[in-house]
Amino acid sequence: MSERIMITVQTGNAGEEIYLLHDVKKTVLETLRESEIALPSLCSGMGTCGRCKVKFLGYAPFPTQTERGKIAPDKLREGYRLSCMAKPIKNCTIQALFAEEEKIKVLTESSIGRESSEPERYYEGLETGSSVIAADIGTTTIAMRLLDVSTGEVSDTYTCLNPQRSYGMDVVERIRAGSDGYAVQLQRLVQEAILKGMEHFIQTAHAKPKLMVIACNTAMGHLFMGYPTDTLGKSPFRPVNIGLTEFSFNGVRTVLMPGISAFVGGDIVAGLYACELYDSVKPWLFLDLGTNAEMVIGTGGRFLCTAAAAGPAFEGKGEGNTTGPERIGAIAHLLEAGLADETGLLKEPYFEAGIDADGIFVTQKDIRDIQMAKAAVRAGIHFLLKKSGISGYEPIERVYLAGGFGFYLDKEAAVRIGLIPSELQGKLEVVGNTSLTGAGLAGRKILIDMTTEKRNLEDIIKNCEVFNLAVQQDFDKKYIEYLNF
Ligand code: FES
Repeated sequence: MSERIMITVQTGNAGEEIYLLHDVKKTVLETLRESEIALPSLCSGMGTCGRCKVKFLGYAPFPTQTERGKIAPDKLREGYRLSCMAKPIKNCTIQALFAEEEKIKVLTESSIGRESSEPERYYEGLETGSSVIAADIGTTTIAMRLLDVSTGEVSDTYTCLNPQRSYGMDVVERIRAGSDGYAVQLQRLVQEAILKGMEHFIQTAHAKPKLMVIACNTAMGHLFMGYPTDTLGKSPFRPVNIGLTEFSFNGVRTVLMPGISAFVGGDIVAGLYACELYDSVKPWLFLDLGTNAEMVIGTGGRFLCTAAAAGPAFEGKGEGNTTGPERIGAIAHLLEAGLADETGLLKEPYFEAGIDADGIFVTQKDIRDIQMAKAAVRAGIHFLLKKSGISGYEPIERVYLAGGFGFYLDKEAAVRIGLIPSELQGKLEVVGNTSLTGAGLAGRKILIDMTTEKRNLEDIIKNCEVFNLAVQQDFDKKYIEYLNF
């Protein structure tokens, strides 16, 4: 048995200290994870993102080469280390540093309000004063709403960061963590977050929820339910179960929205449902751009879907602790000012040091990350149109931009960097958190008639066809073509 020491963790919450037994062969991050202290990690503990910093008070282990490359010398002397690298060998005290990540905004708003557009009589018979919970489990954030079942009014909201983020920031890393033996911890973390939301509603709104509907991407759904994630992470990317699933959670009847494939999940089904896009005859595009960029084109009741791993460029924090929409605004500004060229190269002397653009600090790496993410999205749009037999952007009637990234995005900047084709600029409609809205809407309707609603949701899925973007012939060519601004 290897030697164990005691790590005292100061969490920053009103003098709170947590005492952890630590195996000296492990890294601090491993011990923190086992204790479900969720430090952010963009690189899954590879030592490249620099997000998992802790500060040792007093004794600090000798810094590794990787840490010396990531942390300034004066900070190293002050005791800062990467928790994914640090292996202390004697009792020590650390400060967990998650303050910056907590600043990520969680979007609960949506411009789609189908609840209130339903005829009142439709909901007659539902018990006045009782409630339904809608939950949107995103890879980065979790948003919950408490709705009055008879009026559809939102009586309370609850948001938090997804505590699983210490196991990686994107879907691919979470799937890997699930397959690497952390499935139980990941499930416990997300279930506890949802429980906290439920408790919040029960305490503050004295709610007695009749039903909870959860919408999320397929990986988040698998981790919540405790399904193995192995098959999600490798070709042919088969989910264990993506059908509508009903169960009891914390004593509340709960429904998990059905999904379409391993990479197009129940959050997108909820979005299409909220926007009523299944009724639309003219072609439209639905884009939900986060760490996983999901894209759907609809023509005459048929849907074609694909997804691209966009990495943290759109949702996560950049090197200068900036958000995706902020970085896109800043890059558009740099392009206009001639400080970055069309290939994305920053002019000297900013290549090494980065540059402040209108108060947003941008590094060369930030630009490269955005370029790769936008190239994947544009290639996705290209193949959606091509496979639908639509030539050019003219026939597209509307582009629905869902999710937090789309909500805060400056449309002109998005067009300037080439994320959105200029021909579509006037057709953009920002629709917000449609996953949450769709879950709430489905919840109220399920309470009236589960059989009909289940069929309605399954009809959407039946009319969906998914294709794997990365294996399309010419994908690489298109991707490279769209890398330039
Ligand atoms: S540097 Fe990324 S998790 Fe440690």
